[in-house]
Amino acid sequence: MSLSAADKKAVSDSWAKMSKPSFQDAGERVFLKLLKKDSTKAMFKKFKDIPRERLAGNAALREHGGKVVQALDDFIKGLDGSGHETVRNVGRIHKAAGMTNDNINLMKPILLELLDEVGCGDAKAAWDKLWNLFMTVHGDGC
Ligand code: HEM
Repeated sequence: MSLSAADKKAVSDSWAKMSKPSFQDAGERVFLKLLKKDSTKAMFKKFKDIPRERLAGNAALREHGGKVVQALDDFIKGLDGSGHETVRNVGRIHKAAGMTNDNINLMKPILLELLDEVGCGDAKAAWDKLWNLFMTVHGDGC
């Protein structure tokens, strides 16, 4: 189902809070959650050998997290379709890195957790639709 004007507003208002205070800070927060599972951490060449206790504040993690949040920001601010190319490109990068859609779907509960933490849990239904659209555009990188 596509996003209504009210859904778009709920996503955009909540994203403004989730992506603060900077994309790298938000990205670090997201990646510290995502990498809690060893099996997920092992998927990232650049993080797998970093001991868990040294992930917080790690420059590579913050840089990568910042790029991921930037891609989400392009997508959310370009829901008219202008942000789709960014997401298609991310899909190609993921395919080249050997990621499956199941791997990428690991991000959804992380984003929903962050949504709750910034006090916007009532935007969950809008975020469900947003995630479905993200995965459709992301495709399988073809
Ligand atoms: C909202 C969801 C996601 C977005 C927007 C996203 C975005 C990106 C971007 C922009 C890059 C390129 C980074 C660079 O140029 O250095 C990338 C690389 C990558 N992503 Fe994602 N990503 C997402 C979720 C995930 C998830 C959930 C996984 C795995 C569980 C994953 C695995 C990877 C891997 C393995 C790479 C290659 C990293 C490397 O440079 O070695 N991504 N992603």
